[in-house]
Amino acid sequence: MKFFLDSANIDEIEEIASLGLLDGVTTNPSLVAKEDGQSSFKEIIKKICKIAKGPVSAEVISTTYNEMIEEAMVLSKIDKHVVIKLPMTKDGIKATNFLSKKKIPVNVTLIFTASQAILAAKAGAAYVSPFVGRLDDISADGMNLISDLSQIFGNYGFHTEILVASIRSPEHIVQSSLLGADVATLPYSVMLQLFKHPLTDIGIEKFLSDWNKK
Ligand code: E4P
Repeated sequence: MKFFLDSANIDEIEEIASLGLLDGVTTNPSLVAKEDGQSSFKEIIKKICKIAKGPVSAEVISTTYNEMIEEAMVLSKIDKHVVIKLPMTKDGIKATNFLSKKKIPVNVTLIFTASQAILAAKAGAAYVSPFVGRLDDISADGMNLISDLSQIFGNYGFHTEILVASIRSPEHIVQSSLLGADVATLPYSVMLQLFKHPLTDIGIEKFLSDWNKK
């Protein structure tokens, strides 16, 4: 399973890259807006690509087909690692078709149903981003969606990768990997939680105190 960091924060991205755990990065307009206003969107994406050396999703803010294509063309020229993130709308799917035929990779975002993911896969998306946490937030079951997508994509041999998004906990990662999802995009906080278990800390403390008694 590939690990992407769901962040536009350079320090976080550098830290996870230095651990050797970074396969790529996803950003969205909310994450970019949280960062300092000194750098432009293009500059932020350029910096992230340099660190990540893997797929970096940059989301368009346009909502109409022509504007999406125009924006995507500019973003895709920033770096060879840029993946264009498009919303799951009619215009977004039309743009996915166009860009995919031009060999520009697309990540279709804001996927909440299997039918939406099928449309994105048929349009040639490189990735679909099902938002598991936001489904759980409204008392639906995010992991059911991942299970359905795993089966459906397997049935038809779709090349589109399942990129589990809106992850809230380590358990989402474990369940996604059991279901065979290709990628998980993790917030920095969840990435750190993956390391933790109280018995590990207690164990280290005990080993060290025993060692110091000798
Ligand atoms: C996916 O690419 C999105 O950036 C992200 O996972 C959204 O997560 P949220 O629901 O925590 O905002």
